[in-house]
Amino acid sequence: MKSTIILLSFFIYCGAFAHSSGLEENELLEDLDAKLLKDPYSLHDQIKYDFRKSLDLDEEGCILDPMKRAGLKECGFNTTAKTIFIIHGWTMSGIFESWMHNLVAAVQQREPEANVFVVEWLNLAHQLYPDAVNHTRRVGLSIADLLNWLQEEASMPLQNVHLIGYSLGAHVAGYAGTFVKGTVGRITGLDPAGPMFEGAESHRRLSPDDADFVDVLHTYTREALGVSIGIQQPIGDIDIYPNGGDVQPGCALGDVVAYAGGGFLDVLKCEHERAVHLFVDSLMNKEHVNYAYQCTDPDRFKKGICLSCRKNRCNNMGYNAKTMRKRRNSKMYLKTRADTPFGGYHYQMKMHVFNRKHSDDADPTFKIKLLGEHNDTSDLFVNLPDKVGLNFTNTFLVFVEEEIGELLKIQLSWQDPAESLSSLWKNFWSWSSQSSNQVLQVRRIRVKHGETQKKYTFCLQDSSENDITPGKHLTFVKCRDGWEVKPSKRFHM
Ligand SMILES: *[C@@H]1O[C@H](CO)[C@@H](O)[C@H](O)[C@H]1NC(C)=O
Ligand SMILES: *[C@@H]1O[C@H](CO)[C@@H](O)[C@H](O)[C@H]1NC(C)=O
Ligand SMILES: *[C@@H]1O[C@H](CO)[C@@H](O)[C@H](O)[C@H]1NC(C)=O
Ligand SMILES: *[C@@H]1O[C@H](CO)[C@@H](O)[C@H](O)[C@H]1NC(C)=O
Repeated sequence: MKSTIILLSFFIYCGAFAHSSGLEENELLEDLDAKLLKDPYSLHDQIKYDFRKSLDLDEEGCILDPMKRAGLKECGFNTTAKTIFIIHGWTMSGIFESWMHNLVAAVQQREPEANVFVVEWLNLAHQLYPDAVNHTRRVGLSIADLLNWLQEEASMPLQNVHLIGYSLGAHVAGYAGTFVKGTVGRITGLDPAGPMFEGAESHRRLSPDDADFVDVLHTYTREALGVSIGIQQPIGDIDIYPNGGDVQPGCALGDVVAYAGGGFLDVLKCEHERAVHLFVDSLMNKEHVNYAYQCTDPDRFKKGICLSCRKNRCNNMGYNAKTMRKRRNSKMYLKTRADTPFGGYHYQMKMHVFNRKHSDDADPTFKIKLLGEHNDTSDLFVNLPDKVGLNFTNTFLVFVEEEIGELLKIQLSWQDPAESLSSLWKNFWSWSSQSSNQVLQVRRIRVKHGETQKKYTFCLQDSSENDITPGKHLTFVKCRDGWEVKPSKRFHM
């Protein structure tokens, strides 16, 4: 109950501010700018730069005192190593949450030589949301000043700087990138905050010109009461929307209730925070590639159309991302598992469903099972946005959570309507009379594996039997590399 009230007041405050006059806000911000330029350190005691040495966040780090050169030596700052800043966001508790411990430890383990700073602005972030938003600019400016000082005093190359910001912290990083003299190497935005930033001009939020490379993970972009917790619009050089950027596996109300006895607020936290856990996963699993694929929208991605890596159309999710320039379309997608390791395997499949026996009213529910070198999947539903097209090539995405090794066989089954309650309902009047004599045909399935970029054709194991009927299945075996029906044709042209 209490959490619902907090959430509601959060939305109300966001709503109130989102609709306040733009002019008024501009004046206030300009006024603030003037003050900040005069005294950039007025908030100095409210922002701490905690230089981490121990993996245990509860153990006090070395608090760097900007402007005092001795501090650098005492803290053991290494000028030639990478420098990584971790920036938290709005907080309701006023203390570090557990994700911060995980993220700091993962960064330190992955980059043992790096200078790792936690930017602590808890007092300024533990306020009403609009007030915390108001402080992002000043915190960003303070970080920019520290970076300028590190450049001058310690000759630290700005190229080696990586700012990692979660939620509001992502926009703090954006401001730091805007105000610093020069350009920082990289900014990673982990589900950057949406309220009061969605649709804002680029200098008032994280944007691609804040660093040489800006990569963003969007995990909570569902809208409620006109706002989305995480920003929906793309704001980086690459913008990755895992699972479409909205419903994250393992975060459903049922899951969080079962796991932590939580409620609605925990669903929100689970999805928003998922960006951090995906990033931590990428820090810990250097070898395992988790490609995200460029696509114009999540629905096309769900059809498996976008699994291409040609011309930089895919990139690794998280820390291992390759630097790339801003693209016309920066949106990238992938599916993930519910827990670490989050990565899985994406397959695009195409199959032509022939209707030669006048089963025009057939509305089959297909399931597919992949049989691999090491293991098999369970029966997975074939997810199509509409119903299965007859006399039509259906394209769909199959996501496999377990390592099955090389794909050897595919089993396609037509779920008997009588076995499923919901379709029993749907077909209540028709199945007994009609579905029994419905016959469709599938001759081959073309497959593209996203992770290896390889294409294969799977043909019927028993070529004399290509009929499929409710409750029956067909088995396909790999018959060709590639998709060409007659590969030799090419060479005659
Ligand atoms: C400083 O960092 C560089 C680059 O990571 C490394 O080669 C060097 O050993 C480090 N120096 C110290 C004193 O740790
Ligand atoms: C932002 O904070 C400053 C100082 O804390 C305050 O004077 C100003 O009114 C605030 N602006 C908004 C829009 O809340
Ligand atoms: C599919 O094609 C067959 C002929 O091959 C035709 O009899 C049937 O009506 C077509 N069905 C649909 C739904 O187009
Ligand atoms: C095969 O997959 C099942 C679950 O789908 C799992 O329980 C089993 O451990 C896997 N076996 C191997 C050898 O990976």
